[in-house]
Amino acid sequence: MDHFNYRDNQLFAEGVSVQDIATQFGTPCYVYSRATLERHYHAFTDAAAGQHHLVCYAVKANSNLAVLNVLARLGSGFDIVSQGELARVVAAGGDPRKVVFSGVAKTAHEIRYALELGIKCFNVESEAELERISDVATELGQTAPISIRVNPDIDAKTHPYISTGLKENKFGIEIHRAVSVYQHAATLPGISIEGIDFHIGSQLTEVEPFLAALDKVLAIIKQLKTLNIHIKHLDVGGGLGVAYLAEEPPHPSSYVSQLVERLSEFSDLELVFEPGRAIAANAGILITQVEFLKQNQGKNFAIVDAGMNDLLRPSLYQAWQNIIAVSPRSGTPSSYDIVGPVCETGDFLGKDRELSLQQGDLLAVRSAGAYGFSMSSNYNSRPRVAEIMVDGATAHEIRKRETIADLYQGENKLPN
Ligand code: LLP
Repeated sequence: MDHFNYRDNQLFAEGVSVQDIATQFGTPCYVYSRATLERHYHAFTDAAAGQHHLVCYAVKANSNLAVLNVLARLGSGFDIVSQGELARVVAAGGDPRKVVFSGVAKTAHEIRYALELGIKCFNVESEAELERISDVATELGQTAPISIRVNPDIDAKTHPYISTGLKENKFGIEIHRAVSVYQHAATLPGISIEGIDFHIGSQLTEVEPFLAALDKVLAIIKQLKTLNIHIKHLDVGGGLGVAYLAEEPPHPSSYVSQLVERLSEFSDLELVFEPGRAIAANAGILITQVEFLKQNQGKNFAIVDAGMNDLLRPSLYQAWQNIIAVSPRSGTPSSYDIVGPVCETGDFLGKDRELSLQQGDLLAVRSAGAYGFSMSSNYNSRPRVAEIMVDGATAHEIRKRETIADLYQGENKLPN
């Protein structure tokens, strides 16, 4: 459920007409709904209420300060993968003590920064990284809280680019070596063992792979206990899918309660979630205007002002996202490829979409709140677009559209 609905044939974001947003802020622009973000966050926390838990929103999905701030105000933690993401969390008013640090290549500098801020946990991806974290912490006279990311070798049955829990992926430590890595971690001076984590992929539409991974990891927790290594939290990563088309992913509350049910023997364990997409995707849309309609060899193109640099998912993953008219026309629809201005054949937002269109019409690409703006770029020297957040009856500009001057700010010509 989200808060993008039609009223009198006009698309609204909560209480604001999308047409009005486009008039005020221009196109293309991303529009987010605060109420939808909050609803999705609460779907997790409500379902987990019976278990000690922490939702650590995956910042990479949408890292705008206003988005982070809305979640921080609800008490959310954050899953970060870089110093930049951690700096954003702090700037947004997030609590570093609720931050988990994922990622395969944390630099010594990033580790130091995170230790100085006092984050909750480093999710460790390799033995070499464990050594590095221990060294940096020792230099600072601290012990670093860690969790080992185990790779449970589970097929998440999702797109290969976003599947991470198979043994051929670069992520985590093979599950059969986990116990010995923990034993080694226990001997390192700068390390304090806090948790265990996994993340098997993104856009999962079934709960079974999560449960299979969970069972494998619970067995490791039991084994570690016999070795006097006590795991305080279990981080199940993110990855819960959303409905872009006809997918029927479990509702967050059903997913959470099925995981919680397996923890009856582990009542002390804190359960950590790292959802990104499930919180942000359907809380955002991308508004774009039709610049031209064109026919080539009998094929209809709607050329719009947003391109693959603004929303990369269709080009990169052949991802399907719904495209709807902001003010639908009653005429007979035709089949259009919705393509952008970028000089690449792969620059499209959608193919074969049945729409009734005229030049100047506004379109909304749905489910664009996650991995939309955060994956955008300046390719073709296109300024990145504005981001707007609607809160009830008010639209706030939460990121200004970049200017042409912004494009080459920081660049220098060679001296004469
Ligand atoms: N935790 C870790 C360690 C992750 O690597 C990710 C996502 C998440 C949490 C959040 O996963 P989510 O709940 O959003 O599925 N750009 C791709 C998705 C890449 C996901 C990368 N890791 C896309 O647009 O589909």
